[in-house]
Amino acid sequence: MQMTSTASCLSWVIVLAAALAVSVSSHAWEEDGVVFGKIGDTITLKCDGHDESLVSQWRYNGSLEIPWSFLTNQRHLQLLDLHPSVMGNYTCHDQSGELLSSVQLRVGYPPGIPFATCRASDYHNFSCSWRPSVETLLPARYIASYWVNKGDPEVCVQDPAQPNTCSVQHSKVWTPYRMNITEVNPLGFNFRILEFTVQSIVKPDPPENLSAEPIPYAPRRLRVTWDYPPTWPQEVHFQLKFRLQYRPVLHMAWSMVETANLSDVITDAFAGVEHILQVSARDFLDAGNWSEWSPETRATPWISKEASVSVPDFSNDTFTEEPEPEIRESFADFCCPTHQSDPAEKVALLISLGIFAFVVLALFLILGALIWVRVGRTVKDGGIKPDFLTAIHMKALPKTQIL
Ligand SMILES: *[C@@H]1O[C@H](CO)[C@@H](O)[C@H](O)[C@H]1NC(C)=O
Ligand SMILES: *[C@@H]1O[C@H](CO)[C@@H](O)[C@H](O)[C@H]1NC(C)=O
Repeated sequence: MQMTSTASCLSWVIVLAAALAVSVSSHAWEEDGVVFGKIGDTITLKCDGHDESLVSQWRYNGSLEIPWSFLTNQRHLQLLDLHPSVMGNYTCHDQSGELLSSVQLRVGYPPGIPFATCRASDYHNFSCSWRPSVETLLPARYIASYWVNKGDPEVCVQDPAQPNTCSVQHSKVWTPYRMNITEVNPLGFNFRILEFTVQSIVKPDPPENLSAEPIPYAPRRLRVTWDYPPTWPQEVHFQLKFRLQYRPVLHMAWSMVETANLSDVITDAFAGVEHILQVSARDFLDAGNWSEWSPETRATPWISKEASVSVPDFSNDTFTEEPEPEIRESFADFCCPTHQSDPAEKVALLISLGIFAFVVLALFLILGALIWVRVGRTVKDGGIKPDFLTAIHMKALPKTQIL
């Protein structure tokens, strides 16, 4: 009764009281008027609070037909090889058919070792969650407690608003934790022990506000930005790094880049194609795990007007004159010199050709002058020139003249 009145108070009071009650009463499960049986077992129902001699009959949900049971000498009702189909209301009656007592039978299995995981979305808090490993068909409750280092056990607080989870605040980094998740049901209990440090279970929430946009005149680029997950406290010691994955909508294979920044420029996007992008985060020093991927965003790299105009033109065979100037104009706007015959351009071309010719001429003159100076000097020094001339001379003369 006291527990019931407490229940209207703050939720954590219930949790603490429940944890206390359970640790004192060692997992006992009491429910008024309910008897629990294990499937496959035999169970004996007694007519509660009445002398056995008074009992003349048992009924199952009001019916006298209970083929799966028999009456013992003590006028108890014995049920063999329990099966879920025998669950229900059993009542004992006296000779006049007067109800003496009633009991509800529920059958199921004792708990298996629960599945449990713990995860820290930052370095200051962590939480554990669990689920049964066996479908017991019975109600269950959980006790979650932990040790830091080898200290006294502490309660991992369960919030009734979030069933099957508990959380620990002000957790300590680089410290071993031992978490005990115990599942208790009317037929017994079972527990799982998890040992970890906070940095081994750290797994940030996904980054938020992912957005991607085209970069003007760069048909293969996308600029992508995102924000820290709001649950990650931004401190110098605990930074995040990120990985960005992207693919054209119709491709299955992702490309991936890693960065420590909150933005990135993709340089190998497929031109003119819509891309899907997602980002995830991890502790900068590789502790723990990558976050889940963020919700995806989509973007298409910048497309030139030319492409967007000429594509429909190709599809219908009417090659009108009209769109062409537009194409050239837009092409000239951002790309290369045009092939249009512009008078001003012709003049410019002539001038540059003139300058080029002049430069070439000047080079020839300088080269010629250099050669002249050099040859002149060799002649003065009396170097090769006489021999050179003699050789020519001799070659030119008829053989007879030499001899
Ligand atoms: C720890 O968790 C609580 C509740 O989940 C939150 O209010 C608090 O800001 C967290 N502490 C830090 C330091 O992030
Ligand atoms: C885990 O907790 C349960 C319930 O408090 C307890 O009975 C069990 O002995 C604990 N297991 C270990 C290994 O401490």
